[in-house]
Amino acid sequence: MIGRNYKKNMEVDMIREPKLLSVRIIGDRVLSQKAKPIENITPELKEFIEDMIYSMYETDGIGLAATQVGESIRVFVVDIEWHQEGCSKNPLVFINPKFTFFEGESVNEEGCLSIPGVYEKVTRAEKVVIEALNIDGEKFTIDTDEFLAIAMQHEYDHLDGILFIDKVPKLKMILHRKCIKELKQTTDENGVNIG
Ligand code: NI
Repeated sequence: MIGRNYKKNMEVDMIREPKLLSVRIIGDRVLSQKAKPIENITPELKEFIEDMIYSMYETDGIGLAATQVGESIRVFVVDIEWHQEGCSKNPLVFINPKFTFFEGESVNEEGCLSIPGVYEKVTRAEKVVIEALNIDGEKFTIDTDEFLAIAMQHEYDHLDGILFIDKVPKLKMILHRKCIKELKQTTDENGVNIG
């Protein structure tokens, strides 16, 4: 059943233009909310995920969480290599992801589409195992200690309302205070960042 529906959806998808979703900026309330699990993988959800993938590439991202485009649901997309020479686009979709293993420590400079202009070193687990559903609702597991492990932890945090700067020591964040204040100033009275 999934196979048949999926094929049908793919035919529809091929004539559908993906939408560029606007990325919410720090200060937007949705970025600090814990996202809800996805109960059904509907054709609408698949279209939304396609829009997320399209938007990730259009904004030069290597990962994008649903919360960053205003939907408080547990899905993120990652493609860490597409912008490197000789690499093609190979987006990974993680629906209702769950880490089952963490090991070691790795410090990497991170940035985020929701906090433009701010880059800082963040300490995360070096090796992780994650379980999730793909866009067809099939369960898969990734076991990695490569940069993908860092990207998945960053995107997963978005689903829990956590931004990478929340993991940076406060003293270090003093450097970025002005920049973040300016970014937050575009938030309207409903907590939606219109910047
Ligand atoms: Ni981010």
